[in-house]
Amino acid sequence: MTILGIETSCDETAASVVKDGREILSHVLATSADMHAKTGGVIPEQAAREQVKSIIPVIETAIENCKLKIENLDAIAVTYGPGLIGSLLVGVETAKTLACVWNKPIVPVNHLVAHIYANFIREMTNDKFQMTNWKEPELPAVALVVSGGHTDLVYLKSHGEMEYIGGTRDDAAGEAFDKTARLLGLKGFMGGPAIAAAAAKFEIRNSKYEIKLPRPMIDSNDYDFSFSGLKTAVANFYKVNPKVPIEEFAYEIQEAITDVLVEKSLKAVKKYNTSTLLLAGGVAANYRLTEKFKLEIGKRKLEIDFRVPEPKLCTDSASYIAACANYNYHPIPWQGVSANPSLTITGSPV
Ligand code: KG4
Ligand code: ZN
Repeated sequence: MTILGIETSCDETAASVVKDGREILSHVLATSADMHAKTGGVIPEQAAREQVKSIIPVIETAIENCKLKIENLDAIAVTYGPGLIGSLLVGVETAKTLACVWNKPIVPVNHLVAHIYANFIREMTNDKFQMTNWKEPELPAVALVVSGGHTDLVYLKSHGEMEYIGGTRDDAAGEAFDKTARLLGLKGFMGGPAIAAAAAKFEIRNSKYEIKLPRPMIDSNDYDFSFSGLKTAVANFYKVNPKVPIEEFAYEIQEAITDVLVEKSLKAVKKYNTSTLLLAGGVAANYRLTEKFKLEIGKRKLEIDFRVPEPKLCTDSASYIAACANYNYHPIPWQGVSANPSLTITGSPV
């Protein structure tokens, strides 16, 4: 099946054409992040206005890039939540209009579930060996979705059959990166890559201050997370030791967040006795997080097929929206599709 995916849940306007849920034929993205960087955060109304400007050119480019005729498109998939209502509406209403005019089935997609499906897309590489040896991840699986607004652990029994295991009680992991980056005065709209870049400059043997931040809830008897205390801990430490190099702070922040994410996810894999672990969402682009998962899986001699999408498929795009619709193909009449800004990960299977 060849599906046109549309994603407009926040400040990215994205359209992709994906074949059989795994092969990207086109992947187009416009972002208003530079505009929001100036104000230090997304202004929802401005983001929605930018969505309106970009949506048609982005969809047109996605279709042109794969040289596909409209009649060869089998369906349209669109993010209907969660996200900013103004931004979501632009994608949803555009998708409904196209579905009606082109007479195509439409599949409403849950953005959070869709992140997981980035793992089902075959990486586009020139390496023939890698391409021919690629295998679809096997289910059941435990999935950790770590994005700017969400940190969720779920058990994916089969496509469309999910159980919520745990999640954050306050700030999401991405939010913790973003807020602490702002506290440290690091530049860049997204705090995660800024913290990661600063942390990479730090060498542990040069540590003078030995900052130790808490690993919130790491030993708690559940699968929940709490990251809101981290920014207070950073601020308090900074007050007492204002000369600590930013790089040292960044390193310890990244260590604290990734330690908890790895520990809780491996605990969930053990409880559910699965052999597949899928990482997804913007924070999955963090190299240290992936490295730590691999190291721990090795150290504990676990037989786990650990998957992480390539970085461009961790952050928001429409490719995994189309992939998710392929594996969870439940089209509904276009009149029934409506935006739901507060949708949760298990709010609907697709
Ligand atoms: O999934 P995403 O693109 O958008 C949402 O749906 O929220 O995630 C964005 C989040 C931001 O908080 C950003 O700081 C974080 O992902 N992020 C990272 C990295 N790249 C993006 N966090 C840590 N390390 C990174 N390399
Ligand atoms: Zn996202």
